[in-house]
Amino acid sequence: MSTRLQPPPVSLYVHLPWCVRKCPYCDFNSHGIGPGAVPDRAYLDALIRDVEQELPQLHGRRFQTIFFGGGTPSLFPAGAIGRLLEVLARHDAVAPGAEITLEANPGTAEARRFAGYHGLGINRLSLGMQSLDDASLRSLGRIHDSAEAIRAAAIAHAAGFTRINMDLMHGLPAQTPAAAMDDLRRLVALRPTHVSWYELTIEPNTAFYSAPPRLPDEDTIWDMRVLGQQQLRDAGFRQYEVSAWAAPGHECRHNINYWEFGDYLGIGAGAHGKLTDVERGTITRHARHRLPERYMKLAGTPAVVVRRQELAASDRVIEFMLNACRLTEGFALALFTARTGLDAEALAPGLRQAADRGLLAQGAGRVQPTEFGRCHLNDLLQWFLPEDRRVRATVQR
Ligand SMILES: C[S@@+](CC[C@H](N)C(=O)[O-])C[C@H]1O[C@@H](n2cnc3c(N)ncnc32)[C@H](O)[C@@H]1O
Ligand code: SF4
Repeated sequence: MSTRLQPPPVSLYVHLPWCVRKCPYCDFNSHGIGPGAVPDRAYLDALIRDVEQELPQLHGRRFQTIFFGGGTPSLFPAGAIGRLLEVLARHDAVAPGAEITLEANPGTAEARRFAGYHGLGINRLSLGMQSLDDASLRSLGRIHDSAEAIRAAAIAHAAGFTRINMDLMHGLPAQTPAAAMDDLRRLVALRPTHVSWYELTIEPNTAFYSAPPRLPDEDTIWDMRVLGQQQLRDAGFRQYEVSAWAAPGHECRHNINYWEFGDYLGIGAGAHGKLTDVERGTITRHARHRLPERYMKLAGTPAVVVRRQELAASDRVIEFMLNACRLTEGFALALFTARTGLDAEALAPGLRQAADRGLLAQGAGRVQPTEFGRCHLNDLLQWFLPEDRRVRATVQR
């Protein structure tokens, strides 16, 4: 089945699972812990055991990108993060010019560490601003206010970061389109090179799910989306994915590798990974223990992996599409074959159905979701599921 598989670029995701306090909307694997209470030494020991166990599986491929995500990675001092980077360098595991991102909360305590991260060779910072309005920040249960967010941006620039992402959410409790645009305007003034502009969603197993706040209605959110897209375009950003906007040349290489169905090793509590073995013709997903204590105990042994799933042909089709259809530019059919090992014919029935409904367009060996398709991504993806797994496929332009 998989003779046409080619070894994809490989990224490293490092999960750091603690935050000062759990936000009421967040379903990431993150656990509230007091400042200064993170067991950074023991956790880094575990990460190092974990990565050293996995490196042989890469068969000499070096990481093109590294992403320290969370949780709140900026709770870890630069010295701790540096220990892992040193180990990777010793194993010659990082490609020259690799993109290395670290997620940071804009609290004052964290911002003090930015210069240290830059000194380690971390060349991209991702700041979780969420809003620049104090009432909204309070409604989101954030521990920072807008003044701290503005200060954190200034510290990030002063520390030498030339690639700075800022996360902003819209559709917040009681937010009007005018307030959402004000938030965007204030964010753009802080000179990010990349903006991740998310609509607030209410996720199961969060405090907002148990006690939902009153959110703007669908029409209001739609207005925010249309106005915000124009504002981001006017500010020189290009939307290259559902929620991702970049100044020219500042797209996030790490996330693009996910969306292009590249490989990644995920280390840390609850981290996920996907690795291709060209010799065996397999693509395997892995997940690690979610609880930090358990993870630290088992890291460096095979038992740290709780789930391992080899992807069958039908999984490869839907998983590839799930990722690649998020990209504004879509994808080349040749990439589909290289990453899944399947002939482009495997996509043909779904492509026909989705194209007939105006959800995507095809031409010159490429597939591109239409604007309509990107707004109805779930409906588009239905056509790439085996028939017995389709739940609804009704939308038509
Ligand atoms: C792992 S978190 C970010 C890092 C950092 N801990 C922080 O919060 O500043 C990644 C981003 O996902 C977004 N996010 C998290 N939960 C969300 C939700 N329920 N709806 C929309 N966006 C969400 C937020 O913008 C957040 O910054
Ligand atoms: S949004 Fe960020 S700070 Fe808040 S709990 Fe989630 S990971 Fe932690």
